[in-house]
Amino acid sequence: MDLRQFDPRTPAFRANPYPYYAMLRSVAPIFYWSEWGIWFLTRHDDCTALARDNRFGNRPTGDSILFQNPPDHTRMRGLMQRAFTPRMVEKQRAHIQFITDQLLDRVQDAGCMDVVTDLAYPLPVTVIAAMLGVPAADHAKFHSWSVALVNSLDLKRDAQVDERAAQATAAFEEYFAHLIAKRRADPQDDLLSALIAAEAAGEKLTTSELFFNSRLLLIAGYETTVGLISNGVYALLQHPEQRHRLQTEPQHIASAVEELLRFDAPIQMVGRAALQDVEYKGHHFKDGDSIGLMTGAANRDPCRFAEPDRLDILRTPNPHMAFGSGIHYCLGAPLARLEGQIAIQTLFKRMPQLALAIDKPLYRDNYVFRGLQSLPASF
Ligand code: HEM
Repeated sequence: MDLRQFDPRTPAFRANPYPYYAMLRSVAPIFYWSEWGIWFLTRHDDCTALARDNRFGNRPTGDSILFQNPPDHTRMRGLMQRAFTPRMVEKQRAHIQFITDQLLDRVQDAGCMDVVTDLAYPLPVTVIAAMLGVPAADHAKFHSWSVALVNSLDLKRDAQVDERAAQATAAFEEYFAHLIAKRRADPQDDLLSALIAAEAAGEKLTTSELFFNSRLLLIAGYETTVGLISNGVYALLQHPEQRHRLQTEPQHIASAVEELLRFDAPIQMVGRAALQDVEYKGHHFKDGDSIGLMTGAANRDPCRFAEPDRLDILRTPNPHMAFGSGIHYCLGAPLARLEGQIAIQTLFKRMPQLALAIDKPLYRDNYVFRGLQSLPASF
C-alpha cells in the first residue's frame, strides 16, 4: 500500500482503516493531504502532543464547549463539571442495569437479536435523555435529528447533508428553548436543571450555551456509546479466547472495556486548527491550518502498544486516546465506561451462547463516528 491509496472517503478505508493507518504511521506520520488541505497525524506521541498544545485549538462555531478555546473553554468546562459530577454518574448505575435488563428481556425468548438496534443504541439514548430530563416519548425525534447532525460531522462534504443538519439544528433549538424555559421556572432533579443552576465565580451558562451544550451532551451521550457497545461486542465475538476469558473472569470488565475502546474506537479522529504559525518536527503549520488527529491510528501505534493489532482484555497500561487528550478530554468518559461495562457484561452473562448471525456486519458510512449499522446475533 502507498500514500496514493489514502482516501478516507473510500469504502475500503471505511471498512477497515487500520492498514491505511499503519502505512501513514510508518511513511508519513505527519501528512498533508493536498486534496482537502488537511494535515493528518497518526502517531500516538504526535497526537497527544498536539492535543495538549494550546497553540492548536478550535475555531469557535456556536457556543458548544467542544469548539471553545481557553479562557471560554475553561469557564464553560468548570460550570459543566459542576453539573456532570461523578456522583451524578454513579447514581445512574442501577438505572443503567435496569434498562439493560429490560432491553434484553424483550429479545430473550426470540433466540436472536440485533445488538445495535436492540441494545447498543436504545441504552445510551435512554440514559442520557433521562438524565437531561427529556421525556421518553421524544427520544425517536432526537434520534433523527442527531443522525442528521452526526452525518454532517463526517469528512465527506455534501450540500444535502449540510441542509439536513441545519434543519435538525433548528428543530433542536426550538425543542430546547421550550425545555430550558420550563426547567428555569420549575427545576427538577435532572442534568438540565443542574446546568441551569451551575454557577462559579458569579458566572453562569448563557441560554445559548445551555442549548449548544445540552445538544452536545445528548449527541455525544449516545452516538459514541453505541459504537463502544457494538464495536466492542463484535470484537469479542471475533476473538473467542478473549471472550471466553471475560465470560469466565467477569471481574476484568473494566480493563476489557478500555481495550475495546482502544481496539476499535467509536471516534476515530478529532479535529484541531493551528491558532498561530507553528513549527513542529520540521513541519510548518500556518495559522488556521486544519489538522486531523487520527486517534484511531494512535491507538494502534506499535511505539506505544505492544502488538497493537492484538486484542488483549488485560492490557496494562492502556493509554488509548479513545476519549481524546488534553483540555477537551471527554467529559462523559465515566458515564460511557459505566454503560459499556454494564451492557457488555450483562449481554454475555445472559446470552452466554451469543454468536454472529452473519459473516461481515457493515459499519455506518461515517469515518469519524465509527460504529456498526447492525449486528445480528443468535444465542
Ligand atoms: C464511548 C463513548 C464516548 C467516546 C468514545 C467519546 C469520545 C470523546 C472524545 C474523543 C472527545 C474529545 C474531542 C476533542 O478533543 O475534540 C470527547 C469530548 C466530549 N465528550 Fe465524549 N465520548 C463518549 C461518550 C460521551 C458521553 C456519554 C458524554 C456525555 C453524556 C460525552 C460528552 C462529551 C463532552 C461534553 C465533550 C467535550 C469536552 C470538552 O470540550 O471539554 N461523551 N468525547
